[in-house]
Amino acid sequence: MSTVVFPFRVEDPEVVLNNLRIAASHPAVDLVLAVGAEAESTFAAVEAARAAISSETSTPLELILQERIGSKRPGKGDGMNTALRYFLTETSADRLHFYDADITSFGPEWITRAERGADLGYDVVRHFFPRSSTDAMITWMVTRTGFALLWPRSELPQIEQPLGGELLFTRPVVEALVANDRVQAQSDWGIDTLYTFSTVQAGFSVYETYVRQGKAHALYGGLTDLRSMLVECFSAMQGLAGEQLGGAVTHRVEPTEAVPAAITEKIGYNLEATLQLLGEDWTDGQVGLLEHFPATVRNGMLSNCRRPTFLFMDEEAWHDAFKVLLEHFVPGDAGWEALLFRLWVTRVINYTATRALRGYDHAQRYLQSMVAGYVRRAVPAP
Ligand code: LAC
Repeated sequence: MSTVVFPFRVEDPEVVLNNLRIAASHPAVDLVLAVGAEAESTFAAVEAARAAISSETSTPLELILQERIGSKRPGKGDGMNTALRYFLTETSADRLHFYDADITSFGPEWITRAERGADLGYDVVRHFFPRSSTDAMITWMVTRTGFALLWPRSELPQIEQPLGGELLFTRPVVEALVANDRVQAQSDWGIDTLYTFSTVQAGFSVYETYVRQGKAHALYGGLTDLRSMLVECFSAMQGLAGEQLGGAVTHRVEPTEAVPAAITEKIGYNLEATLQLLGEDWTDGQVGLLEHFPATVRNGMLSNCRRPTFLFMDEEAWHDAFKVLLEHFVPGDAGWEALLFRLWVTRVINYTATRALRGYDHAQRYLQSMVAGYVRRAVPAP
């Protein structure tokens, strides 16, 4: 049997309760666990509805607060790791599912699809779904790029949504993650990177199941909304650099289907608000750090002090900038964090203006071929 976990913070309580009810009604599920980041209003709403949902569905619904486990900023990683520990000590279930609590398009088929992947014998099942061509910019520009540059021979760069919070772990995977000190330390947004990396490093097989209706969630404002996620995801990647992987893992990806217009036509972030960031808040410290970068990147970035410019930040320039960042970036240093964000914003605007503008299909093919190109160049010719 399976445990379904929803980590949550402040969300629309109606959406969260609906998702808890859907999970509790699923025949494969014998426990639903809601893990709150803090005792606020959404937590209180779940508390109030808990007994009714349990009795209505005949499935226990437990509500706990996340523990302080890790050593980074207390965030989603502590929530997910709290759930892994609870699962091992309080249940004897074979499978654990995670879903983000705020998905408005959640339904029983999300659970069923993951169960089918595990029935096929895979250790890890990951959901993936179509995303707007200007969404997923940390996934593509940081995580898939980093995996391609650092472990080009592995399955890591081929994983569709390495930052996805919708996944299934079989019990041996949970045991391995709880026993892994580095995973337990990653209390922040870096947790998804750590789970993805560590399960592949440990040799667990991966099945990726396609959810065609996608994951409905709100449009980001300016890319500033994503700044701490970016910094934490990049820092997590940098912290893994130098790690060795074992042999190949079995990895299967379900075929995709036609993508609904709601996704192909959606704009993922506010371009006008984001463009303004290019010229704002430069400090002497940031200008000084540009000395580490090749001339194209350095001069291009400096031009932004006068007017927005981003065409120079193509695939090649980002590759070179990324290598410098892997080597020199200092997590927690205000100048480096601001510069990382600025470089990434420049790359995202470049991609938006030169690729996303040409349409959804073009953009998807471009992103796939960008990662494939990074993989090729990271493997030295014999
Ligand atoms: C990503 C964030 C933006 O996947 O959700 O890149």
